[in-house]
Parts: sequence; C-alpha cells; structure tokens
Amino acid sequence: MERLNEKALGTINSIVTRHTGKMGPVKLMLHDVQHELGYIPFEAMEKISEATNTPVAEVYGVVTFYSQFTTEPKGKHVINICMGTACYVKGAQELLNRVSELTKSPVNGTSEDGLFSLDATRCLGACGLAPVAIIDGRVYGSATQSKMVEEFISFVVDQESRTRREERQHEAAAV
Ligand code: FES
Repeated sequence: MERLNEKALGTINSIVTRHTGKMGPVKLMLHDVQHELGYIPFEAMEKISEATNTPVAEVYGVVTFYSQFTTEPKGKHVINICMGTACYVKGAQELLNRVSELTKSPVNGTSEDGLFSLDATRCLGACGLAPVAIIDGRVYGSATQSKMVEEFISFVVDQESRTRREERQHEAAAV
C-alpha cells in the first residue's frame, strides 16, 4: 500500500481533532476527509477508528455504505452517467461511450492525467430528464441532445492544456 504524504496525514489529523467529541463524529470526519483529499485512504479510517473508539470494520462499513465516499482517489472532475432504464432507452450507453472517449477515462475509473473520473450509476431519480449526467454535482438533463456535457469536457481539456503550456513557459523562462 502506498504511504500517504505528510500533508495528507496532517489534513487527516486536523480533521479528526476538529470533530473529536462531537455527535456522530465518524460521518463528520469521513465527510471532511472525502472533501479535502478526494477519497478516504485506509490511514484515515484507522485514525477515525482510534479517535472515536469505533472498530475499523465499522468505519469501513460506513465508507462502503454511502456512495458519497470513495476509497480510491477521484479525478479533478467527476462525471456520473445514469444507466437506469429511462436513461438507457434514451441513449445513455452511447453517451457513456462518448464521454469515456472524450475524457480518456475508463468507465468507473479515472483518466491517467487525473482530470476526470467517470462513473456509470443507477437511476438518479430524474427520469423525466433522461438521459441524465451529473458533472461535479450539477445535473445535466437531455444530455445527448444538449451537447453541454461535451462542451464542458472540451472546455476543461482546453483550459488544462493552456495551464500546462503556461507552466512550461514559466519553467523555461526561469532557467
Ligand atoms: S433512469 Fe436515469 S434518472 Fe432515472
């Protein structure tokens, strides 16, 4: 298992300290760790377990029960495509394939550049808007027709390559 760096460990320690003694501390701590680090590493579960006198297995059970928590690092942008029946019949599979191609992310995985995570999900409860995509928590309905999903991805990719180009120029100028 890869060791966490000092910064991540410091973040976990301060979250655990902040919530120790509060009501329902396990979920509060997990929520903040997920928010700060983008996932829940095993070291965080161990520290939360110690601080709250909760067996690690129980903390792990909470992590796996709630879909908001993940044990793997996520990309900068998280895209969920609903694969429920209503979305499926309205072209969710094609949308999923297209998004996977554009983001270079495998389904239920993360792109190599860490920019996107792509997840196929069950019904999101917005069937009237089928097919539905959620990007960074924002809902996009009729996602195959509106092209907003594709436009968002192109925007992020363009912006990222511009940022990287500028960073390289700064580095070259500094030498
Ligand atoms: S089937 Fe996609 S929101 Fe219900």
